[in-house]
Amino acid sequence: MSKPTASLPTSVAYPKVRRMRFRFGQLEPIQRHFIEGNIVLSHLVALLSGGFPPGEESFIRSVRRFADEITDPALKKRVAGFIGQEAVHGNQHRVLNHQLIELGYLFVKVADFPKDSRREKTLVRAERLLPRHLHLALTAAAEHYTATMAQRVLSNEEIRAIPGDPEVWHLLDWHAFEELEHKSVAFDVFRAVDGSEETRILAMAVMYYGVIPFLSVAVIASILADRTAWHPITVTRQAIELFRGPVVRGLMKELRTYMVRDFHPDDIDTTALLEQWRLELFGTDGQLRDRVK
Ligand SMILES: [Fe+2]
Ligand SMILES: [Fe+2]
Repeated sequence: MSKPTASLPTSVAYPKVRRMRFRFGQLEPIQRHFIEGNIVLSHLVALLSGGFPPGEESFIRSVRRFADEITDPALKKRVAGFIGQEAVHGNQHRVLNHQLIELGYLFVKVADFPKDSRREKTLVRAERLLPRHLHLALTAAAEHYTATMAQRVLSNEEIRAIPGDPEVWHLLDWHAFEELEHKSVAFDVFRAVDGSEETRILAMAVMYYGVIPFLSVAVIASILADRTAWHPITVTRQAIELFRGPVVRGLMKELRTYMVRDFHPDDIDTTALLEQWRLELFGTDGQLRDRVK
């Protein structure tokens, strides 16, 4: 049985859809390596941004495959919030992606294919070959992966101290915040439609063993395609720092908790962190109040 939504604070129970409009490059042009002086992190963030729009559209489709079976009104409302938030995430990352492509990030163009493109249709056909519970379990696992990263981004002092383009940072903070707001929605849908623990854990195993090798290859390819990034000693040092530093250090151990039977994402209490960032971003003097349409 999933945890009763009613026991959660409203901000967590019902993810709020905020129609954002970021101003990339308007105050100052985005630098090619917009995470200051860090080629590897700039390419990693660019690739993640590239992959988010089609990825999040797939997450939405995986939940919609069960739309008729979600009967609990509270869960329905949370699903509506989840779908709305993911749609705005994809849309705002696409705005950034256009600029990244103009800056020369070739692989952002590869990762972010437009709606109704041939590649999207191929992806949709491939998804349809997956059993729908497995598709949803992969979404729930990816959501836990992103929520784990989001918690780090919002709470780790070393990560917060990384200098970068301010508007890109705003986008990442807002995205991380909303990922925490809806972190258990896909998971609760999976439980509500009788998804098995075996399928749920298998899906996380795919993410656990697959994401870092896949991203590593993608980052290497992206750097090789960027003539301005051909500084092998700097790139090697930055890659080692990335794996030893606050972004990756301890990550696998944290992710493994998801593969324990009866785990629930809300077992990790992020309500205080969410409240802190809600005030920081959208409170009276919130940093992003004027980015909400
Ligand atoms: Fe998202
Ligand atoms: Fe999400």
